[in-house]
Amino acid sequence: MKSKILNMLKAHENTFLSGAEISEALSISRQAVSKHIKKLKEEGHAIESVSRKGHRYVSGEEIYNQTELLSENSARVIGKKLIFLESIDSTNDYMKKIAMESPHGTVVISDEQTSGKGRLGRQWASEKGTGIWISVLLKPDIEPSEAPKITQIAAAALTKALNDLGLAVQIKWPNDLIIGKRKVSGTLTEMSAELGGINYVIVGTGLNVNQSTFPEDLTDKATSIYLETGQKASRKEIVLLFLKTFEDLYDDFVDSGSLQKTVAICKAQSVLMNRHVRLITKSKTREVKVIDINEDGQLVVENEQGLLENVFYGEVSVRGLYEYVD
Ligand code: BTN
Repeated sequence: MKSKILNMLKAHENTFLSGAEISEALSISRQAVSKHIKKLKEEGHAIESVSRKGHRYVSGEEIYNQTELLSENSARVIGKKLIFLESIDSTNDYMKKIAMESPHGTVVISDEQTSGKGRLGRQWASEKGTGIWISVLLKPDIEPSEAPKITQIAAAALTKALNDLGLAVQIKWPNDLIIGKRKVSGTLTEMSAELGGINYVIVGTGLNVNQSTFPEDLTDKATSIYLETGQKASRKEIVLLFLKTFEDLYDDFVDSGSLQKTVAICKAQSVLMNRHVRLITKSKTREVKVIDINEDGQLVVENEQGLLENVFYGEVSVRGLYEYVD
């Protein structure tokens, strides 16, 4: 019966067939149709299900929508509420508007951002259908000064998820993801806090997945998974693994109070380790050698006098001298 359903969907490639149509045509119950379709998806068939439309066999196009992401998300809390938008100015800005009344773990994803925001007031190019533009809402019971650790958890989680999918991605401390010499992902964390503690943290991550070109000013600096591997990647697969990995690392941090698991990933995949870098602050630029990432996620560097210093997130911008571009 399963193969009959598959053949029927393939015969109507890219067209939705409702559960009722399939059940009537094959004289089986709608529950049986759902069960077989679930099995076909688990086997890797490109079937998209959309509520009130039905199911379709998709060719040459990836499946990336709310129904699929929600139904296949195996994280317990992160993404239990998931909002998928076709287009928005910025997922971080959208999340800010709903943050106070939304539960911890809410996720907003958009297929396009018309005004994506990067760090330091920069723009983040977010062309439709090409990348992952995702914001996660967290309501942690931690000191506001601990919030940068959450950004590192996100970077470590995405790195681990991509590594597990066979992609050789590295981290430029604290949270840029690099392939070769170029940046493939960045995270912008925004927080609302009061004296009493954190109201919410929004962790907004952009990942360049299937872009074949970038605006001219970015070509030296930015890359995508497609440009690096020559293969289009599934945004759905990456998002699902990222949410689960993020939840595991985040829970471990909250439960144990230690950033150990995240730091282990950041160290193992660091592009900066044992390299000479430029530390740029408002007042000066210095050359130092990166020695370690400590248990709080701070960069440990050897300064010009041969002394070790801990560098706090947000304090500096780090530039490689030879190996990659900022
Ligand atoms: C950086 O400059 O490295 C940070 C880039 C962060 C981009 C992401 S895309 C999803 C979320 N929404 C935004 O407007 N920005 C972040």
